[in-house]
Amino acid sequence: MAGRRGATSGAAKRRAQNPYKRPDHFTKAAKSAGFPARSVFKLEEIDKRCRLLKQGQRVLDLGAAPGSWSLYALQVIGAKGRLVAIDLDPLTSSLGPNALVLQSDAFEVASDLYAEHGPFDVVLSDMAPRTTGMRETDQARSFELVLRALEIARAHGAPGSSFVAKIFMGPDFDQARAALREVYGEVRTIRPETVRKNSIEVFLVALAKR
Ligand SMILES: C[S@@+](CC[C@H](N)C(=O)[O-])C[C@H]1O[C@@H](n2cnc3c(N)ncnc32)[C@H](O)[C@@H]1O
Repeated sequence: MAGRRGATSGAAKRRAQNPYKRPDHFTKAAKSAGFPARSVFKLEEIDKRCRLLKQGQRVLDLGAAPGSWSLYALQVIGAKGRLVAIDLDPLTSSLGPNALVLQSDAFEVASDLYAEHGPFDVVLSDMAPRTTGMRETDQARSFELVLRALEIARAHGAPGSSFVAKIFMGPDFDQARAALREVYGEVRTIRPETVRKNSIEVFLVALAKR
């Protein structure tokens, strides 16, 4: 019993020390509003600032688990909108009849499937690499994810569509931004208020696909 108490308090201590494991105000607010993760507030802020999502749109959500962004997007696009949500991991939320959920590597999904459900008005990528703790490696992998997601958005985004991609700030950031700028009329960099203080993530928001 004493051992178990020790293990429990050890886990609690680790949670307290690791901000990513500590349920903060935003985590609690997201849960009480029916979203599985605090990430919903990041998309909400991006959406409000860039007027991204609209009723009736087709949305592709890459890296969708546990499901907060998809649930938020579905609320905005409404019953006439369509959403495709893809993640390596299963979503913890059920999304409803106008969503297609695929548990898969986004880069192994057949192009035909994207074509069948697109062209998309908004392509979201909150994909993040499994972090190693080595900053340069994590940044390089995040950069790679952005470029690969951009290829999907380039192929399956409608003219005039938008693309949002999470990226870890690092030496490749300017190159990623420039790659988006080749495809989209405008690219903004947004660091939502709910991004944790010690996080290196920012979002590239690309508007008006050529
Ligand atoms: C920060 S989470 C996404 C949170 C999600 N936007 C939400 O609001 O619930 C990042 C996700 O990217 C996924 N991911 C990373 N690489 C991927 C890939 N190649 N294909 C599909 N999903 C991927 C991870 O499995 C992880 O669930």
